[in-house]
Formats: sequence, structure tokens, C-alpha cells
Amino acid sequence: MSASAELLNVQIDGVWHQFPKGTRVIEACSKAGKFVPHYCYHPKLSSPGNCRMCLIEMGMPKLGPDRKPETGEDGKPTINWIPRPQISCAQDIAEGMGVRTDSPLVRECRHGVMEFLLINHPLDCPICDQAGECQLQEFSVQYGTGGSRFLEEKVKKPKRVELGPRVTLDDERCILCSRCIRFMKEVAKDDVLGFASRGSHTYLTAHPGRKLDSNYSLNTVDICPVGALTDTDFRFKMRVWFLKETKSICTSCATGCNTIIGTRENVIYRQTPRENNSVNSSWMCDYGRHNFHYVNSPERLTKPRVRLGSAQEDASWTTAIARAVDDLRRFKGDEIAVIASGKMTNEELWLTKQLIEALGIKYRDIVPRVGESDDILLSSYRNPNIVGAHLLGVAQDEPGSLLPEIFRRVQTGSIKAVLALNEDLMNAGLSTADVEKLEAFIAIDILPNRTSAYATTLLPGYSSAEKRGSMINIKGRLQRLNRAVRGPGESRDDWEILRDLLQKFTGSNGIYLIEDVFKQMAEAIPQLHGLSLSKIRDLGTQLETNDVETGAPENVHV
Ligand code: SF4
Ligand code: SF4
Ligand code: FES
Repeated sequence: MSASAELLNVQIDGVWHQFPKGTRVIEACSKAGKFVPHYCYHPKLSSPGNCRMCLIEMGMPKLGPDRKPETGEDGKPTINWIPRPQISCAQDIAEGMGVRTDSPLVRECRHGVMEFLLINHPLDCPICDQAGECQLQEFSVQYGTGGSRFLEEKVKKPKRVELGPRVTLDDERCILCSRCIRFMKEVAKDDVLGFASRGSHTYLTAHPGRKLDSNYSLNTVDICPVGALTDTDFRFKMRVWFLKETKSICTSCATGCNTIIGTRENVIYRQTPRENNSVNSSWMCDYGRHNFHYVNSPERLTKPRVRLGSAQEDASWTTAIARAVDDLRRFKGDEIAVIASGKMTNEELWLTKQLIEALGIKYRDIVPRVGESDDILLSSYRNPNIVGAHLLGVAQDEPGSLLPEIFRRVQTGSIKAVLALNEDLMNAGLSTADVEKLEAFIAIDILPNRTSAYATTLLPGYSSAEKRGSMINIKGRLQRLNRAVRGPGESRDDWEILRDLLQKFTGSNGIYLIEDVFKQMAEAIPQLHGLSLSKIRDLGTQLETNDVETGAPENVHV
């Protein structure tokens, strides 16, 4: 609210409040602590007012013969109540307006609307994925009558419709609120959904010859108030009330959409967007949302391995760290290269930078990861922490620009040891023949890749869902990752692995917790001064970004 916004007086359930001009009636009620049930209304979409669930009683000031509002004993306007109920989602407040959200008429209206909505709705709750977070269930209990007078046959509508590659539709459950249609048209800019047929036979469908295949299709599942639209990947996998919810961020591109990771018994089942109006509004893309299955992969690296002769063998952490350190000690700084990743957290990048300095390593960079941006959320920078890698001095000014030189030196044998952090060297541009030439190749990763079999020391790390830490998104917002699941087997958090390596060269550096790493980093990096992991908070902290953004400028529109 701007300081100059005009405030209007509104009476809600007998109490006068002030709200800025332009506030929706339903929002004013909510701010006054009076929740008005609704289905079709969504604050981020247009308001067609078609479900009628938000009916309230409304009145305007009674005017006297002089056309001025009459006032009561309290000096406030006397309200002239409109005899018919009004919807609260599609109109703004007005000076002197009166609203009743819980009168006998309002309660009766809600009974009626619920009864209509349930006439053709199937009794699917025991097998419906939405059960537990379904507004039809919740409002039935809270505002319904608890019974039905409907004796006729329910209308049968299409079931298990493959609306698109990732969304399954059960038309019988649809209450025709049109949120999905409006989302696709207004936010995803892909006008693909609509209603067909008339009356109680109306059903939701994709336009002829079209599929709901946008990269934002799964947001329709989030905003569908009932179980009509379901995520085909999550469908029938887990009852939602069993899910433990962890607030985190998506690490599939540099936008860093805020998420909730749903897990049970150390398995990730789904990832959904978390509202952050400075980053992703209420949405996320399908690519990022479904990009978690690798975390549950049975292929995950679970034990450190060291190379003895021509074969790798399982080893203890003590042996593996000692071997990596011995190998690194054999070479001069300009004979070692660090190939780091823009997927690493700030804490890991900071420790990597300390290691680089301790060993006098000259050749270091990150592997660039780019794709197409869509002008909605998806950034062309697919490394989630490219800004952090730049700020903390691990990436070159032009990320990836030093890689050709590093590879040339590996090929000519002047670089003899490589520390690869969460990157497949072959993806980065080296061949197996090049990797075989290395006298020491130390890799931290979570899954085997084409080069990990050549590692002299292979250290199993954590995925982004298994770690705590921070990243900086493309707009310079510092955000937190939180641990949703534990890493498999003997894998360890990457910052701990890097700390152990570093301490072998520098001696004890007073780092016991990830908070200690952040503290050290915040003392040294001006943009992070005064911050700590806990001060970042759930919605992140905007950094003074001018220097930060130079590494990777881009505008992302929500
Ligand atoms: S499918 Fe869901 S969001 Fe779409 S119109 Fe039906 S109830 Fe509304
Ligand atoms: S836009 Fe980027 S950060 Fe957001 S969900 Fe998609 S991949 Fe993840
Ligand atoms: S929420 Fe107001 S008519 Fe649907």
C-alpha cells in the first residue's frame, strides 16, 4: 500500500475498518479476519464471479433528503442493506459500505451453493488425490448441509482424460470454476482450455486438436480447488496428509522459484510452488517441479571410492579424504584445475575458493548451463547459483570462458590433477582419453557419470533436496535451501567434504556448522555483511546487487 493511498471506511460484521481504495470486498473481509469461502476467485487471476460461493450481504450508506449519508448514534453512516445477496470477489469496496459475512441469509446461500455444486459431484474422496486439501470437502463440512435431496441419476462425464503429458482430468469432479482456463490464458499465455456443452453437461476440455502441454501446465493442478486436475506423476502415489512439507527453492534454473518439497519416509513425492511475490508469484514451471526423481535414484553414489591400480574400490571417508589430499599435495598450483558447478551453494563455493587459495590453484571455472528462457519464469541460465559462483570468485567473469584453456592444458599434460565438483567432465568437454591422462582426478558427485569411473577418489555428496545452504538467484536475491530428506548410505553434505579437504591443508579453521561457513563468508563478502543463514528467512533477502548481477544479467517476468 502506498503511503498516499486513499483509505475508505467499511463496516464488516458490525465493525468499522479502513482499507485502501481498490481493495476487493473479499480481500477486505479477509484482512478483517472474516474468511469468505470461495472457489473461482484467485487473487492472481481475473474474477469472473461464476461459482457464487462468496455470496455476502452488502449495503451502502442510507442517504437523507439532502443526499448526504445519514449517521447513527456512533456518528457512522447508517447502512441500507441490499435485499439480494452479492458476490464479494468481483467488486471493490466503497466509502461507507456495509458487509455481513455470517448472517442467516449468507449461511443459507452457502448451503444452497454447496448443494448445487455437489449434485453431480462423484463420491470419489476415498480415492481422490485432492482429499485432504480439497476445498469442496472442507467447505462441505464447514458451510454445507450434510445431506443431499438429489434423487436423480448424476450426470456422467469423461474420466481419466489425458489433458496433456503431465495432467490428468476427471471431468466429473470439476466444479467449473474456470481457474485453470484463466491461468492458462492470463499467466501461461497459452489459451488452450475451455468449457464445452451446456447446463449440467458442461465439461472442461482442451480446444480441438490441442493438448495442455505448456511448461506451466501443472500450476492448474495447484489452483484447481477440487480433484479434477491431477499431476499424472503424483497421482495415486501418496495421501497428502502423510507428506512432510519442507520449504526450499527449485535449483533447476537461476530464477530460484520458492517451493515446498513433499516427502514421506525419506522419499520425495512432489514439489509444489510456494508464494513469493519477489521471485515466482505463486507459480513454478513443470520442468523444475518434476526435476527431483534423480534424488530417489537407486543409482546414487553411497560410499567413497578410491582407485587402486586399474580398479576403484570402496573406502572409508578417512581413507578417501587422505588419498585425495595426498594426490593434491603432489602437484603445484598451476598443475591443478578446479571444475566447479553453478549448482553449488554459496557455502560450498566459499570453501572451494578457500581451497583454491590454500593450494594456489590458478585454473578454475564453472561449467555453463544454458537453455531457452520463456519470459515467464524459466531463466536461460540453468545453473541456479551462477550469481553466487561469480560473487564468490569461483566462476570467471564470463562463466566457462577458462574451460577451453583448462582442457588444452589437460590434453598437453601441464594440468595433472582435476577436482571436479558436481560436474561430468565429459559433458563439460573432455574426452575419456583426456581424463585417463590425469594423474589425480578427485570428484564429488551424487550419481555415477561417464567420467566418475576414472576418478582416483570419488566422494558421494548430497543433492539439493538433502542440504541446507544458500544461493543467489538471477535478480540478486539470496535464498535458502532446506533439507527435506537425508542423503543415502554414507554420502555426506558437500560443504562438510570440502571443509575436511580444506582443513587438511590449513589446519582447523573453526568451522563446525554450516552457520560457521556463512559467518566467515559474510565477514569477507561486502554484499553479505550483517547476514546469517537464519536472517535470510523463508522469502529470501534482496542483496545490493549491482556488482552481483554483472555476472549474469537477465530479466525474468512473473
Ligand atoms: S478443472 Fe478445476 S480449476 Fe478447472 S474449472 Fe474445473 S474445478 Fe476449476
Ligand atoms: S522457472 Fe526455474 S527455478 Fe522456477 S521452477 Fe522452473 S526451473 Fe525451477
Ligand atoms: S468466488 Fe466469488 S463467485 Fe466464485
